[in-house]
Amino acid sequence: MRTTRTGTKTLALSLLVLSICQQNALQAATVDTATPVTPSANGAARGPAAVDTARLLAADAEPGQWMSTGRTYGEQHYSPLNAIDRGNVATLGLAWYADFNIARGQESTPLVIDGVIYVTTAWSNVLAFDAVTGAPLWSFDSKVPRDWGSRACCDVVNRGAAAWNGKIYVGTIDGRLIALDAATGTPVWSTDTVLTRDLSYSITGAPRVVKGKVIIGNGGAEYGVRGYVSAYDAETGALDWRFFTVPGNPAEGFENDTMRMAAETWKGEWWKLGGGGTAWDGMAYDPELDLLYIGVGNGSPWNQDIRSPGGGDNLFLSSIVALNPDDGSYVWHYQTTPGETWDYTATQPIMVATLPINGAPRKVVMQAPKNGFFYVLDAATGAFISAKPFAALNWATGIDEKGRPIENPVTRFDRTGKAAVVQPGPGGSHNWQPMAYSPQTGLVYLPATDSASIYAYDRNFNPNPLTTNLGIDNAAGAAELGPNAMADFASGSYMVAWNPVTQQASWRIPGPSAGMLATAGGLVFKGDQTGLGAYDAASGAQLWHSTPTHTGVAAAPVTYTVNGEQYVAVVAGRSNGNYYAPDYSRLLVFKQGAAQVLPEPVSYTPPTLNPPQATASIEQVARGAEIYGHNCWICHGDVGSAGGPLRRGLFPELAVSPTLNSQELFDAVVLQGVRSANGMVSFANVVNADGAADLRAYLIERANAALNARRGP
Ligand code: HEC
Repeated sequence: MRTTRTGTKTLALSLLVLSICQQNALQAATVDTATPVTPSANGAARGPAAVDTARLLAADAEPGQWMSTGRTYGEQHYSPLNAIDRGNVATLGLAWYADFNIARGQESTPLVIDGVIYVTTAWSNVLAFDAVTGAPLWSFDSKVPRDWGSRACCDVVNRGAAAWNGKIYVGTIDGRLIALDAATGTPVWSTDTVLTRDLSYSITGAPRVVKGKVIIGNGGAEYGVRGYVSAYDAETGALDWRFFTVPGNPAEGFENDTMRMAAETWKGEWWKLGGGGTAWDGMAYDPELDLLYIGVGNGSPWNQDIRSPGGGDNLFLSSIVALNPDDGSYVWHYQTTPGETWDYTATQPIMVATLPINGAPRKVVMQAPKNGFFYVLDAATGAFISAKPFAALNWATGIDEKGRPIENPVTRFDRTGKAAVVQPGPGGSHNWQPMAYSPQTGLVYLPATDSASIYAYDRNFNPNPLTTNLGIDNAAGAAELGPNAMADFASGSYMVAWNPVTQQASWRIPGPSAGMLATAGGLVFKGDQTGLGAYDAASGAQLWHSTPTHTGVAAAPVTYTVNGEQYVAVVAGRSNGNYYAPDYSRLLVFKQGAAQVLPEPVSYTPPTLNPPQATASIEQVARGAEIYGHNCWICHGDVGSAGGPLRRGLFPELAVSPTLNSQELFDAVVLQGVRSANGMVSFANVVNADGAADLRAYLIERANAALNARRGP
């Protein structure tokens, strides 16, 4: 049993029960909310989370707060605080930490309001702490049914909460939106944002509050859903408006003229497969223009020829759409990847800034979506200003002056019918990790990734809402292209400081993808596999690194002040590329001169690649490969190459799984669902006993291939 500690004392109020190093510890957090704890620095006259339009609009007048996920409506992840600067950042140390009771992917950006820090965790729970002492104030368990975890492509993560008028809002992995009393964590209202529970919708993104409405989208475009964004009355939870991101069945009538316009860019009977376009993360708001910007996701299925046979742009897939926040009506859109077919979402973080464009200040919207181009658009009209690649890519050779990509035809596997290695792969050149913009340097700091993946037409596509519907067959493509197909494609991650005016990198330094924070202290903060680092915003030189956190940091840091002292807070959680390693998901808070020490990690031996001998027939392995591609690849990824296509390390690498040694063990997980409580449900509804044997044969064959590759010729 662990307790949450402050810098000075072990709290009697123990919560967050965790059986040490159990990656599957999933007990509900419990806290005695009957004994309220008074935070150190609650705004004297205000109650907790007293956020309103006036305060959010004037966020720069209160730089010590972090009241919304991107700090300001423009979501620059920039703080005007400068007490911690280049000269003294080396003295940062751990002030306090709080363990979570859930060791899964942690991607949450905390909120800090009047001395209270609110943080969401995996499985959509919320915790509140005193921002100075770390004293736990309350916790909320959203009680998501664990089997819903198998209906979300990319782990049961949550990226943060929103605050408004004494309430904290969280979206849950099973699609609910919940308002909590910011003083106690007690639910005030809860609403189901999901159209039908027969489809696999999920929420991982942070809600935003604009003009008293809570705005939230959803995920699920891997599972055959139709995307939309909804706005709820922040006080009552009543639905105010809903904007669909793709058109529905024309025979049922379009919701509005925008859907009629969008339908002209689709072919065939796309609505039967959902169409996709889920807006699962990036949003921003500009109060001057009064525009809400939403980032729209990939097509469902991925393969455009199946989704919309004959092509078309397929609006509003992979687009930034500007909406009127009062009624959700369409204002403009810009599509980054027309007719997308590679899972190239434009749901990545969006930011608004004023930049000198051709010598004159211009308000722009910026995004670095999965497709690898950095876009600068006019914030008022959506007019294309510029786009240049920030990572290695081969799907397009550039963007023409009208803002349309010049595609590389060989990457259009859906039209050629031939397998292709496409760069970037479905994980994208940049994913959910917040980027930051510093008005001091004029640079955007973002984590970029060079990756590639094999795409091939799935000739056995068979849609099923309970499992993934991608329309691509990775294993068949790998067989078609041979073992060295990927050899010439760059891979790796780095932090890049991007000049959005000249569209060039100012500097790049290698390192894993993680969310960013820029500060007026001339600093950029970013996590990595061993903790949190601080970098010179001008040069990229590393100026500080935390002591080891024993678990990677992928979430975006925030900074705040209480009683004049500046703090930096970040969530640590699985991002270390190995599901089997012990994970220490926790909130870490740093300040100058502090020296709190984390407990020693438990000793751990990584699993070895030691599969049983491969004895199955080629035919059986091929059958297993097909079942794997349809049902398992989305989470478990390319077997033998460490991790999922979208979320490396968040799911077990099956090549090293002990279950490969016995069909009985394997079936217990895959057919009987003995790991349902951790989100690995039974697949008995789509895989029978023969299929499970085929799957295991395929996995053993892949594991042996990986072993042979490692041994060399
Ligand atoms: C939605 C994501 C998801 C999908 C899809 C999925 N799994 Fe899993 N799988 C998981 C998670 C999460 C775990 C880890 C569960 C735990 O911690 O006990 C897991 C664990 C396993 C394990 C046990 C690994 C070990 O050594 O402990 C096996 C075997 C497995 N999965 C096989 C499959 C097969 C076969 C399929 C396809 C039929 C599949 N999975 C589809 C998420 C998924």
